[in-house]
Amino acid sequence: MDITKILAEMTLEEKAGLCSGGDFWHTKGVPRLGIPPMMMSDGPHGLRKQEEAGDHMGVNDSIEAVCFPAGCATAASFDCDLVEQMGRILGQECQAEDIGVLLGPAVNIKRSPLCGRNFEYYSEDPLVAGEMAASFIRGVQSQQVGTSLKHFYANNQEHRRMSTSAQMDARTAREIYLPAFEKAVQEAKPWTVMCAYNKINGVYAAENRTALTDILRSEWGFDGYVVSDWGAVNDRVPDLEAGMDLEMPSSFGMRDAEIVEAVRSGRLSEEALDTAVRRILTIVDRYMAGRQPDTVFDRDADHESARDIAAQCMVLLKNEAQILPLDRTVPVAFIGAFAEKPRFQGGGSSHIHAHKVESALEMAQAAGYPVRYAKGYETQDDVVREAMIQEAVEAAKAAEVAVVFAGLPDTFESEGYDRTHMRMPACQNALIEAVAAANPRTVVVLHGGAPMEMPWIDRVQGLLMAYLGGQAVGGATVQILYGDVNPSGHLAETFPRRLEDNPSYLSFPGEGDVSAYREGIYVGYRYYQKKKIPVLFPFGHGLSYTTFSMDKLRTDKSAYQAGECVTVTVDVTNIGDRAGKEVVQLYVLPQTQSDQVQRPVSELRAFTKIALAPGETKTATFSLPARAFSYYSQQKGRFVVASGSYTLACGDSCEHLMAETSVEMAGETMQPEQVTLDTTFGDLLAIPGARELVTPYLSLMADDSEADAMGESTAGMMEAMIRYMPLRNLLAFTGGKVTAEQCQVLLESIRALCG
Ligand code: BGC
Repeated sequence: MDITKILAEMTLEEKAGLCSGGDFWHTKGVPRLGIPPMMMSDGPHGLRKQEEAGDHMGVNDSIEAVCFPAGCATAASFDCDLVEQMGRILGQECQAEDIGVLLGPAVNIKRSPLCGRNFEYYSEDPLVAGEMAASFIRGVQSQQVGTSLKHFYANNQEHRRMSTSAQMDARTAREIYLPAFEKAVQEAKPWTVMCAYNKINGVYAAENRTALTDILRSEWGFDGYVVSDWGAVNDRVPDLEAGMDLEMPSSFGMRDAEIVEAVRSGRLSEEALDTAVRRILTIVDRYMAGRQPDTVFDRDADHESARDIAAQCMVLLKNEAQILPLDRTVPVAFIGAFAEKPRFQGGGSSHIHAHKVESALEMAQAAGYPVRYAKGYETQDDVVREAMIQEAVEAAKAAEVAVVFAGLPDTFESEGYDRTHMRMPACQNALIEAVAAANPRTVVVLHGGAPMEMPWIDRVQGLLMAYLGGQAVGGATVQILYGDVNPSGHLAETFPRRLEDNPSYLSFPGEGDVSAYREGIYVGYRYYQKKKIPVLFPFGHGLSYTTFSMDKLRTDKSAYQAGECVTVTVDVTNIGDRAGKEVVQLYVLPQTQSDQVQRPVSELRAFTKIALAPGETKTATFSLPARAFSYYSQQKGRFVVASGSYTLACGDSCEHLMAETSVEMAGETMQPEQVTLDTTFGDLLAIPGARELVTPYLSLMADDSEADAMGESTAGMMEAMIRYMPLRNLLAFTGGKVTAEQCQVLLESIRALCG
């Protein structure tokens, strides 16, 4: 397509028209110029292609498709290749169904366990979310199908999502809420980005020039189109000027007319409109060029893949007395309605019309395992039914092992609203307590997209987090329970003991339409570690049926200049007797304290997943760029590597580090941005070269009568106090020995050192 030529031939009305949908899912076509409509479809973990009535809440019907594990689960795989492979399959399905852009991945940070849409999101950690998103995009787009990285940005709650304002400082945005988008945009180049519904610091995401133009395009180099989340447009003309190109769904011509009027009256430049149209046409052109209409959507084959993927995502959280894997010959009681009818996906726009669903019960029975079933609870309400519990208790007593399938029912977590507490249904908790009392050899399998409180945790021996594993979750669960697949998932989020421990507890979901992100950068493990708050299961945790060790962590050098990459290697060994996969997590722990900036205890800066045969050792190699050591300086408006020492540590969770070493970084000295007469001596002394200039004056202060009166033993105290005195105190506390002019001269000479 010769886009420049087409643009020149388009009428103003046609150009304005291209900036909103033709219907619920398609862009508009311009037949006379050979521009076809292009379909977008949810996403992300399957196709929700609606052929009839469209809606964005998953209410109306969509075609039969394959439901893969949701983002909460795939992130737990910590396996970028796996997520890319899933993306490839989805891309092929899109080709078969003539979908130009799949609406995902969704990378918003799991700030609170309560967000109704946590199941779609990847992690509380921006690196994990970014890596997963980039892999997913690479996979889908390798099939010449576009993606829509969403929801840009700070859409971390469903409560008032269309009117609330996420209030946060620049450091919080840059270190926590933006990096997943940044990584995905820079490394995987999504065709499109979807702007969020909410406001960011008072400005709607759809109208947020800082986000859509300055950061996304100018800084990160995004070159596709920005599409509104469905219905996110507030004021069309300013939105367009801010960088929001395509409004979805259709505005039935109303907003097109607004754009035409704005250009005619000079309120909007035609150039700005052309820019948006060019971006949309570029993607439509890519879609046309990449069409592979002969592709077949093989639902049964994809179902098999969905099972393989789901098995790689499950997280074994507890396995006392090696209760798992189960012996195939012993009688086992499968208890709980989810054993028969698994909860495998969440509600809302990502809801897939699954072409078939397999349960753990049917898969275990099909394999010939001696399994007896008791339902235990109903899912449509939260009523403790004694008779059902009694039946479950009998089944548990008669069995060698009881496996209770539990978790969050559909109504507990969905797009559109948040959870109001972190508990599981009371009827399930009562069931688990009763079953565990009847048979201590009890395992719990949990379905759900986010952490739950587990009052019974000390009374069960095994716990498997199956997340929302897609339509083949039943088979995958059986594979893990019976040891056909060795579990290898790890938590991409912390499981706190109780909701009140979560850092956002006091400010989530906000007051009226203000959601203040008061915890700042201390999200998830960054907070629990800093506050030393015991958690149920730490970020990164996940067990295996074998055991791994990590040692000989080493770097290519011990001291680095800022900007140099640090190459880190660590040996990982399978010291057990089963083949398995380990997630090697590399954390950076800043050691040099400073008054100028607070740092988390540790931050995940790289990870990889390694398959190891029993006894085998492999070396994992990581390359840490400067960014891995940096923090975002609000004053400087950029990331800064602070000089000092850093510990590098590898482990299988943020709390279980097995090998470490230290490096020195020659970065920037953390010093005050501005040196004035109000700057303290402590801060001045941190400036290289300033000590020589300042010391003679300090001794004048120390000579002062006050110091004399304090006596020699308190000289240390005196020095400590001087640290917090501003430079101007030379006038007050040197007994008149220093004049205002001398003070000024000293100030200027220190400023000269700062450059
Ligand atoms: C959701 C998006 C989705 C869109 C289209 C919105 O309500 O937030 O994630 O892609 O609807 O269904």
